[in-house]
Amino acid sequence: MRISVIGAGYVGLVTAAALASKGHNVTVVDTDDTRVSMIKQKKSPIFEEGLDDMLSSCIKSNRLKATGDYEEILATDITLLCVGTPSNPDGSMNLSYITESAGDIGKVLGAKSGRHTVVVRSTVVPGTTRKIIIPALEQHSRKKAHVGFDVAVNPEFLQEGKALHGFFNPDRIIIGEEEQRAGDKVEELYEGISAPIVRMDMTTAEMIKFSSNAFLATKISFINEIGNICQRLGIDVYDVVKGISFDYRIGDRFLNAGIGFGGSCLPKDVKALVHSSRHLGYQAQLLESVLEVNKNQILNMLRMVEKKLGNLKGKTICVLGLAFKPNTDDIRNAPALEVIRLLMEKGASVKAYDPLAIPNAKSVLSKKVKYCLNAEEAVADCDCILVLTEWDEFKNESLYYGKVVFDGRRILEPQKAKMICDYQGICWR
Ligand code: UGA
Repeated sequence: MRISVIGAGYVGLVTAAALASKGHNVTVVDTDDTRVSMIKQKKSPIFEEGLDDMLSSCIKSNRLKATGDYEEILATDITLLCVGTPSNPDGSMNLSYITESAGDIGKVLGAKSGRHTVVVRSTVVPGTTRKIIIPALEQHSRKKAHVGFDVAVNPEFLQEGKALHGFFNPDRIIIGEEEQRAGDKVEELYEGISAPIVRMDMTTAEMIKFSSNAFLATKISFINEIGNICQRLGIDVYDVVKGISFDYRIGDRFLNAGIGFGGSCLPKDVKALVHSSRHLGYQAQLLESVLEVNKNQILNMLRMVEKKLGNLKGKTICVLGLAFKPNTDDIRNAPALEVIRLLMEKGASVKAYDPLAIPNAKSVLSKKVKYCLNAEEAVADCDCILVLTEWDEFKNESLYYGKVVFDGRRILEPQKAKMICDYQGICWR
């Protein structure tokens, strides 16, 4: 198939590379010149396991190319809309990029003679495709949806760090459609990939994506809350998880208690769902609490540090881990950023190390943060260590001998850790 992918972010690039590697001809369209020229040089503008190699081999075999020119959509049969939908300051979803992009696609579709399918793959508030994207496409193409062009919704469920694996091994493929023809076209994209395919209307498909992320966030805040209670009872929440996980209705996934969830998706999507339900006249109390519990984990960490060290003014604190999770350089909504901001507000000096995320952290954190070349340098000469991302290299026990350690990611086994350092877990015994 001849496919255009709009947006060279995580979702767009992973989708583009994966489809090209399946033999489709893919054109990635992005208005960011730097991104486009990096792709042309066979380099991925984002860090994702395996993506550099896959992009490079698809470009070499002429199955993938990048451009800044929307007109190139004309030479394709299907366009996947993968642009970002970030948060507004009030928590609502910023749909300006997607609306603008839909308009640009529409302008090109106005001149297209054959059939074309537009597929919304970005995460959007339920109802957005019907109420915002289709009208923008119609207005700029001067064609009617489902007559002049087709539209479908195909949300992604990719996890950063394992996104390519996730693309080829999805738990399910969700297709939202108004007419069967559009859904069939999306199914064709996934030919050869084995997964249940669930088809429904477009707004339901959009809601499925939101509900998935909201449920995952709820699981994390749930177990963090249980952890906070367990800690006061002298119980290890990880033992509790072992016990509850045998119940197949509960399972053991996404129940790692710790400093809380970050990233570009879970916090943003839960906030957007809370915001849009308020607009619908419903207060999403559970989801509000999910966000509150998540925010409080950071404050709990701060309280623990202050209880141990007293006034933080003049103290040197080592932060191991800046990325929102391991195997990525992504720091968006990473708990470490807020922890560091609060520590510095209280007068502490911060030394930090992360295997990948330092360049990104430098662009948003105070210039006063001292970045270290490795974990050994970071843990030397500090009043305490905070572990905020569970990178494998932080499991090395020798980093912690004789130190004061606050573990936000269960990097150490508490019983063993107690023998080598002054150890406290954020929400376990
Ligand atoms: C998340 C979803 O997992 C994907 O299914 C979804 O497609 C994606 O958002 C998206 O909307 O695009 P991602 O943001 O890559 O994926 O990260 P996750 O692996 O879900 O982790 C999110 C945060 O939760 C991380 O900060 C992680 O450390 C934290 N987490 C995760 C926990 O604190 N405990 C856990 O048990 C699991």
